[in-house]
Amino acid sequence: MKLEPNSILLSSQKIGNRIAQNRFVAQPMEGNDAIGGKVSERAIKRYVKLAEGKWGVIVIEALAVADNALARKNQMVINEENLPGLKALVQAMKAVDPNVLVLFQVTHSGRKSGRDFSRPTALYNPESWEHLLTTEEIDEIQRLFIEAALISEAAGADGVDFKMCHGYLGCEMLRPANQRTDKWGGSFENRTRFLVESIPQIKARLVNKDFILGSRISYWEGIKGGCGTASSDDAVEDLSEMDRVISLMADLGMDYVNVSAGIPGVTSEITRPTATSKWFYLHQFRYARRAKALVGERMKVFGSAYSVLQEEGVHEAQSNIELGYADFAGWGRQTLSDPLLPKRLALGDEVDYCKLCSGCSKLMVKQEEVGCIIYPSHS
Ligand SMILES: Cc1cc2nc3c(=O)[nH]c(=O)nc-3n(C[C@H](O)[C@H](O)[C@H](O)COP(=O)(O)O)c2cc1C
Repeated sequence: MKLEPNSILLSSQKIGNRIAQNRFVAQPMEGNDAIGGKVSERAIKRYVKLAEGKWGVIVIEALAVADNALARKNQMVINEENLPGLKALVQAMKAVDPNVLVLFQVTHSGRKSGRDFSRPTALYNPESWEHLLTTEEIDEIQRLFIEAALISEAAGADGVDFKMCHGYLGCEMLRPANQRTDKWGGSFENRTRFLVESIPQIKARLVNKDFILGSRISYWEGIKGGCGTASSDDAVEDLSEMDRVISLMADLGMDYVNVSAGIPGVTSEITRPTATSKWFYLHQFRYARRAKALVGERMKVFGSAYSVLQEEGVHEAQSNIELGYADFAGWGRQTLSDPLLPKRLALGDEVDYCKLCSGCSKLMVKQEEVGCIIYPSHS
């Protein structure tokens, strides 16, 4: 397939005060190949390859804000000590494509932190192996997120993405089920305090006032009391509160929202539909469309879950953007099966579409280096 030069997918678009060269977003994909939290040669190679692909935006995989908050044994950590490696990563990407916008996704793995190599922590109802975070510990995590945004800027990234999706700590914080009785839980105000307090502090300390600020959310998680439900004991979809979260992000002057859904490992099909659960992509498209209708031009909206549609996903992306249902289309697994997707589509070269084998997810679950098992030479 060859995209027409005037395809909307190849058209540039603003995010905040910056310009993405096209509408293709490489979604964050954990590689589990750091060395002691530091950026490895393998990771640099992966991202240089993506940069060769001419994506409009590349979101670097979930970087842990602390080395005791790892979901992956070999997850990269964002701290001062690892700044040289993070700088080298961005430099290597920009050397290949100076126009690509590089965003760092920052996270705390919370309950999803590994029991064997990290420290599972919970905001509420801890399991026996989980530590219930104190108010002061959450204050400290907030400080680490703010520092992570500033380290992202120092590393040369174009922006930062707060991971508030997929069951990680940021996501847990937003849930109606977070009924902590301190300032970090209970009311909507307390559950969104993290954003309301952190964003202005970050903005005040950034040197580059055009630095992009955004967040990835799970509009509906599909669990009792999860994001996208009405109360702590209800699993049925009710998006009204998440609508408020997104509007709040716009009010805070955030530049984009990356719309996702579900919790990998719990409601995986919602997050990453497979061949047997293909139609879940319709929910993801509906969520992005809803976010776009809500924020209009105040924020840009990235959509998720295009890989399951393979080549048809490119047509769907084009049509969603043309119809104003999203500003950008994001591919996850497809970035592993063919990191050169946008470039190949522009040139009319053959694309290696994701075969939906779930091989990459299995590698991640087994705590191995993540890549495409069908086209291993790509990662
Ligand atoms: C191996 C693997 C690693 C992932 N790592 C991340 C991550 O670091 N951050 C994130 O927000 N989502 C992550 N995801 C989710 C993807 O970004 C994406 O939302 C999901 O795969 C659905 O999109 P797709 O259908 O295009 O693959 C990961 C998914 C997989 C399979």
